[in-house]
Amino acid sequence: MLEIDALHFETIDSTNNWAKAHIQNLHKNKLTVIVADEQTAGRGRRTNRWTSPEGNLYASFCFFTNQANCISNVTQVMAISLAETLTEMGFTPMLKWPNDILLSGKKCAGILCEAGTLDDLTYAIVGIGLNINMSKQQIAQYSFTLTSLLEEAGRNFKIENIRISLQKYFRANLITLMQKGFEPFLESYKTLLRLRPGDRIKFHHDQLQYQGAFHSIQNNGSLNLLLDTGEVKNFISGEIY
Ligand code: BTN
Repeated sequence: MLEIDALHFETIDSTNNWAKAHIQNLHKNKLTVIVADEQTAGRGRRTNRWTSPEGNLYASFCFFTNQANCISNVTQVMAISLAETLTEMGFTPMLKWPNDILLSGKKCAGILCEAGTLDDLTYAIVGIGLNINMSKQQIAQYSFTLTSLLEEAGRNFKIENIRISLQKYFRANLITLMQKGFEPFLESYKTLLRLRPGDRIKFHHDQLQYQGAFHSIQNNGSLNLLLDTGEVKNFISGEIY
């Protein structure tokens, strides 16, 4: 059940773009993984670019479902899957709500999910970029809030081994998500979160900024923020900064 089809490109504009352009040709009952060694126009969330030189993992995981409700948690499940992969490798990952993966408090991976419908089915393209063999000098060109596995462990890693491990975890977790929803993941997601109740945060949603304290994660994975006014406001999307 849920066989994996992997397609590899040396260079591509963006694995998510390719998946979107070819979505009608992908197998409806398989998990298709589009992988590239480098991307010339990698995209991040909102209108951000995702700089994508060789040496890192760039992959889009594509699947179809008739349960559209599972899509809202699929990026969190991908983040948990990567955390499982990294933990198995000896790292201590943490998550920044909703789905950034952190090592030593710095971002090592980001996830961009794009969903739509085709022939009465919902599809999701879950793109993930993981900084693997990126040197300190390369990272410094982009941002001081980023890191890579090389930077954290002081050695290079084989990208394919990490991708295969991530595929294994994500496939198993996706089956659980489709069958049982987000509930089975809730405790491990909360444990992996860097935020603890009471932590002060600045929050950005729909071009509005909020300040307050982290309150809790609801059962559907959404975030409750205790505003300075005393009101608890719920967000299903947004950005902590
Ligand atoms: C983020 O802004 O945190 C999300 C980054 C997502 C980057 C990945 S790399 C593979 C896939 N293809 C893209 O163009 N973007 C995603």
